[in-house]
Amino acid sequence: MKILNYILILMFFISCGNSTEFKESPIPQIQRNTPSPVTPTFSDIEERVLKPNCIQCHAGYSDYQVVFSGKEKILEAVLKGTMPKNAPALNNELKSLLNDWVSAGAPFEDDDGEDPPAPIELAPTWESLSKNVIFPKCVQCHNPNGQASFLDLSTRQKFFEQRVDYLNNFEDVANSYLLEVINDPDEPMPPVWSNIERLNEKEVKALIEWIENGLP
Ligand code: HEC
Ligand code: HEC
Repeated sequence: MKILNYILILMFFISCGNSTEFKESPIPQIQRNTPSPVTPTFSDIEERVLKPNCIQCHAGYSDYQVVFSGKEKILEAVLKGTMPKNAPALNNELKSLLNDWVSAGAPFEDDDGEDPPAPIELAPTWESLSKNVIFPKCVQCHNPNGQASFLDLSTRQKFFEQRVDYLNNFEDVANSYLLEVINDPDEPMPPVWSNIERLNEKEVKALIEWIENGLP
């Protein structure tokens, strides 16, 4: 009987010891390259990371292809805490979620889900240019809430409204103010400090053709 009491008391202390140890355990570190048992999909990232914290400035992040092609920079900005801008860094749970997703190759859906939307080929249409060029390279600043809200480029209608000042009224578009700004050797758009890749030759050509055709 005495021995049994002794064992019970001992067990009590051991369990107390364990529970304080648990409480004081440090915040789990982010584990690189160890995906959690269930790999997150784009919709998890969209619902938990992008919509609540990023979309208001980076409108392009509603598009899978845009996020996929920028995934390393997105992860880096989130892990370092430089993004979201002017807001506290994301918590460790969200950082790990994003890290797991990128480590797993940034899947759109799980295995038995649908295929990711195919990248839209570059063509002189709003559908193609907005997804390939204007959202990823301009709209994160040029939207109604962005830092360059004075020139909203997020809809075709907004481009149309700029036709006199920026688009040379659809004539000789290669020499319009918009193209001058895009091609400016010293202070181009997107700005050098943004680290956003400048428009390549093909993109510039498609943009000119799109405007000359009256923004189809
Ligand atoms: C309040 C607006 C705002 C929010 C919210 C925001 N960003 Fe940004 N982001 C910017 C601006 C502006 C820049 C351009 C660089 C700068 O000003 O720091 C930028 C730049 C970036 C860049 C490019 C920087 C680089 O190193 O190449 C990435 C990637 C990025 N943001 C990711 C995100 C992610 C991911 C989120 C959400 C977790 C987010 N941002 C939330 C405004 C924002
Ligand atoms: C990272 C933010 C950012 C991105 C991305 C960006 N811009 Fe800008 N843009 C600005 C800011 C800020 C200004 C105002 C200050 C200035 O002219 O530098 C501006 C100004 C402009 C102007 C007016 C210039 C003037 O002096 O009248 C045009 C036109 C323009 N941007 C077009 C674009 C186009 C087209 C893209 C994409 C190819 C783009 N911008 C991408 C931030 C951005």
